[in-house]
Amino acid sequence: MTQSSESVVPWWRNAVCYEIYVRSFADADGDGVGDLLGVTSRLDYLEQLNVDALWLTPFYRSPQADHGYDVADYRDVDPLFGTLADFDEMLAGAHERGLKVIVDLVPNHTASAHPWFQEALRAGRGSSARERYLFRDGRGPDGSLPPNNWQSVFGGPAWTRVEDGQWYLHLFDAGQPDLNWDHPEVGEEFESVLRFWLDRGVDGFRVDVAHGLFKASGMPDVEGLGPAGETLDATMTEWDRPYWNQPGVHEVYRGWRTVLDSYPGDRMMIGEAWVGSAEAMAHYVRPDEMHQVFNFHWLSTPFSAPALRRVLDETYAAVGPVGASPTWVLSNHDVVRTVTHYGGGDLGLSRAKAAMLTMLALPGSAYVYQGEELGLPQVDVAPEDRQDPTWLRGGGVGRDGCRVPMPWSGSEPPFGFSPGGPGEVRTWIPQPDWFRDYTVEHETRDPYSTLNFLTFALQQRRELVGGLSTTFEMLERGDDVVAFRRDGVDGARGLVCVVNCGTGDHPVDDLGTPVVLSAALAEGTGQLLPDSAAWFLS
Ligand code: GLC
Repeated sequence: MTQSSESVVPWWRNAVCYEIYVRSFADADGDGVGDLLGVTSRLDYLEQLNVDALWLTPFYRSPQADHGYDVADYRDVDPLFGTLADFDEMLAGAHERGLKVIVDLVPNHTASAHPWFQEALRAGRGSSARERYLFRDGRGPDGSLPPNNWQSVFGGPAWTRVEDGQWYLHLFDAGQPDLNWDHPEVGEEFESVLRFWLDRGVDGFRVDVAHGLFKASGMPDVEGLGPAGETLDATMTEWDRPYWNQPGVHEVYRGWRTVLDSYPGDRMMIGEAWVGSAEAMAHYVRPDEMHQVFNFHWLSTPFSAPALRRVLDETYAAVGPVGASPTWVLSNHDVVRTVTHYGGGDLGLSRAKAAMLTMLALPGSAYVYQGEELGLPQVDVAPEDRQDPTWLRGGGVGRDGCRVPMPWSGSEPPFGFSPGGPGEVRTWIPQPDWFRDYTVEHETRDPYSTLNFLTFALQQRRELVGGLSTTFEMLERGDDVVAFRRDGVDGARGLVCVVNCGTGDHPVDDLGTPVVLSAALAEGTGQLLPDSAAWFLS
């Protein structure tokens, strides 16, 4: 199937969506933490970058146990980030510039400060208020052992004991109690929250932990784990666990789809669903469910031709059968930055740029994480500056290193992130001195910067996308090279994308006119260098 004109295609099918991690994007009030007016102040930048949509991470009222993914009031802005009026101003400013806005919805858990959870604590065991969450008695003669062996994604047991001796489930931080989605009020509340933001004019939702929500009946122990979560059988995977991907989730998303469809404009939702198979993923994007799911296949793969081919195969195996459009993502606020993932330094940057260009040539929509346009590597945050609950609970390397506040200008911290001169504001995670080489100001001036490269690639993409087929054909160009072609429609020229994952130069003189290059072609021979990608019009 091919489509020839963008006007008949819903905006999200081909959109490039820029993820704003609000705490770390831009700080207007000078407290060292990003905020909504900070976002508003940088809308011109985002417009000039040529992205189509913004996804904002949670800015709702929250004690910030997981930096906003612990929501205490789903209908209000946390004073740390501003006010509802600031939100409206930001949204209007984005819309004036033709930018769509997606907000984050966190339905798996609330904050422990949420009035429902506070009521549940007060009301005590056996109360109806406790039924909105997952309270259980413990095991052992005095109930002092957790109700089962489930482990928090952030490390340690997934249960915390309250004063009267019961335990509550939290798949993430103890400040994020899991809701009981079998309770009718929970579903009603979230539909009402959806309407609240739709009425305010948002264009869509990113649904956090979309594969969570329901837990297997009886909450059985995870097979293959001992009572304290120790691994007994390594063949059992994360995806076999009785709290992920339970069938009930699909009914919820069908209901939400009906709500979205009842609003004018193409309102959409994209799910964060970490599931084990392409088939399981496809279920989330059946025609009456979500519009998109994040495609995480690329995030963990090495820079190699077989890995990239596998990403393409797995993606199409997932979305093809249900007719959904693919999404592509190389990085987000939960994973190591792409430059570092690909080996760091010049090599990592070359590969990250090549991967970006490849992603942008593929049919479907792409998600770009703030700082990716600057080629930012992961920051090695000092232990005393770490703030991520994953790190604090001992559950992993922590995500602070990809969340360091953005460098905008100047040569010293806060690099224009916060108002005020050097040393006047301490950003919530300190910025390293070497950020001076990555500021927006610095990169705007340098014609060969990652920023100018991506801005140009996005501009070209915008011009070409409407004239390109929504399918592609792989081209055979050797084991280490991945190449594909999208035909032009309605007389437009086709696009060929080639990425060289090998160690030798690759001849490209048969491919037509080069339009975007992640690195200059080899001097003299005009061949495509290793670790680079290029687009050709033909
Ligand atoms: C998602 C978010 C992550 C958060 C978690 C719990 O995975 O992307 O940042 O910690 O959900 O809400």
